[in-house]
Amino acid sequence: MSERPGDGHSGESNREVEALKAEIRRHDYLYYVEARPEVADGEYDQLYRRLVEIEAAHPELVTPDSPTQRVGSEVRSELPSVRHTASMLSLDSTQDQDELLRFDERVRKALGEEVEYLLEPKLDGASVELVYEHGVLVRAVTRGNGLEGEEITENVRTVPSLPLRLREAVRPAPAFLAIRGEVIMYLSAFEALNQRMVERGAEPYVNPRNSASGSLRQLDPRVTAERPLEILAFDVLSVRGASFAHDHEVVRALREWGLCIPERVERAVSVDEILEYHRRYAADRDSLDYEIDGVVIKVNDLVARAAMGATSHHPRWALAYKFEPRKEITRIERIAISVGRTGRLTPVALMRPVQVGGVTVSRASLHNREEVARKDVRAGDKVRIQRAGDVIPQVVERIEEAGVDRGPPFEMPGECPACGTPVIEDGPATVCPNRFGCPAQLKGRLVHFASRSGLDIEGLGNETANMLVDRELVRDLADLFRLRAADLMPLEGFAEKSAQKLAEAIEDKKHVDIHRFLYGLGIPEVGATVARDLALHFRDFRSIMDASAEELEVVEGIGPIMSEKITGFFEDERNRVHIEAVLAQGMDLIAPEVVGESTLAGRRFVFTGGLPSMSRPEAKKLVESAGGRITGSVSRETDYVVAGAEAGSKLERARKLGVTILDEAALVELLRAAGVDLP
Ligand code: IVH
Repeated sequence: MSERPGDGHSGESNREVEALKAEIRRHDYLYYVEARPEVADGEYDQLYRRLVEIEAAHPELVTPDSPTQRVGSEVRSELPSVRHTASMLSLDSTQDQDELLRFDERVRKALGEEVEYLLEPKLDGASVELVYEHGVLVRAVTRGNGLEGEEITENVRTVPSLPLRLREAVRPAPAFLAIRGEVIMYLSAFEALNQRMVERGAEPYVNPRNSASGSLRQLDPRVTAERPLEILAFDVLSVRGASFAHDHEVVRALREWGLCIPERVERAVSVDEILEYHRRYAADRDSLDYEIDGVVIKVNDLVARAAMGATSHHPRWALAYKFEPRKEITRIERIAISVGRTGRLTPVALMRPVQVGGVTVSRASLHNREEVARKDVRAGDKVRIQRAGDVIPQVVERIEEAGVDRGPPFEMPGECPACGTPVIEDGPATVCPNRFGCPAQLKGRLVHFASRSGLDIEGLGNETANMLVDRELVRDLADLFRLRAADLMPLEGFAEKSAQKLAEAIEDKKHVDIHRFLYGLGIPEVGATVARDLALHFRDFRSIMDASAEELEVVEGIGPIMSEKITGFFEDERNRVHIEAVLAQGMDLIAPEVVGESTLAGRRFVFTGGLPSMSRPEAKKLVESAGGRITGSVSRETDYVVAGAEAGSKLERARKLGVTILDEAALVELLRAAGVDLP
């Protein structure tokens, strides 16, 4: 090893490395978190270069929390799924002041009149969990479905303001700390990024939230590193080695550990104070460099929170009080008809492009003919538009213009614009009945099949699907798997490499999770969550195909309406023929993984009554992830009855039959023993 003067032996280098790391960390913190740097860039660069130099000479001194280790170079093929240390609930939200009053009443009823709230902005970004062990960042996970998300540690490490090691200057780091925060992209940075993307011929992001979330989920951390992201921390999901009595202490601790926190976190004791806070933020909303879509009101006392608990979706001690959606005025140029994968004809208002809260809007669905009639909008009309939930554009109302001759009223076409088949009316909807022959429906089915929650075939979006169907290269889903690179090469926008890539991507997706395949089929009512629940429960595609309504309804969240849609779909002979044709292409459907050794494989569980801390769907998913089966009624075959508060006749029956009865604690014990990783 070449020794340089000053490098000395490894021990000395070690001391210098540690000193440099601490120094650089301090400057990073001052620069990125506090925005009050103490040194000039040149001086900082010198320190950084010195650290790089010593680490190059003594690779054994490189630690993962070194400031030089923010950007990894390993490119992944996918982001693994990881369970959260505690479930990441969502927030109940409202735009209605009366709802806020009722929330406050409920809280006071539960906790007494003396209530203190903590107020924060509701950041419109992507939620993440950050795990620090002994002060070192070891894991970051997207929110995903709240129970598990995608592991994005390497990507999160690239966010310059995020400490790779917690600051211990004021407060020691706990042994274990899981934080919840929001990843955001500043509006200025978002615009610059989109500009660059357009210049490169890439599709720009729709809004800063999608941009933040898309940037986080890159397979190559070097791409994420180029995206200007920020993480604001606002909650502790779980902690060992520290404890807090109030949320304001949590926020203070997060700040002291060197994390960025939201601006203007304030306490309030009355609804008036909440309204005042909301008004102030609403007034300043447009001058902030990041998107917020409301304010969050949380009970400050953490013991009181535990007492109030949560529903399966959201805590009872918090509420997001949202802002009014942003509105703008524009003009409808034309009303077009789009035919989706289900054959519905949807009128779409094509409008003069207008900026609504930082996003250009030029089209909005008008849903169906009744909606068009109700709003009485026509081509040429002036309209007020908004983005619902600040995302999906909507036409709010027509604006009356005196003395202006309007065009003729809108009429639905009598024939499908894509295939010419006479349409039928189904309630307010207008439908093209040519399910298996209409090219527009096939295009839609293809895109859905290949979409993110479906087979996730990269490179098969709207445009490609249109070409494949228009050129009759694909006449049904099974045809997709017959495509060769040579078929794709003549298509516009394809070259040898891209054709090869898409052909391989399709071939690759013959091995696919059951739930993705199921989702991709586009069964009415079956979204990504239901598909996952079905796959977890049945663990085999054909069993789902053949399940009776009764068998389906055992799955939590599936009621009679859904089960009827599902059995109806699979009973349709033409659907079966199509599915069999796809399966015959060599599909290999993968059952969801069962964690651990799973002593619970095949064991039958019945749930009755509410559990104190877990939600029922959550508990059921845990049981199923360990291989257990959930059934609806107690019989001699039942292995366990999980009974909570207000358990009913099922509990009695279990006692009579001598079935093992578990409370939540016993269930947790059992799951742990079966290898389920629980906090
Ligand atoms: S508290 C269980 N505070 O909004 C309550 N959430 O629908 C934990 N969000 O994705 C959340 N700003 O990540 C909380 N100041 C804030 C927030 C916030 C944004 C996100 C949250 C979730 C969504 C809720």
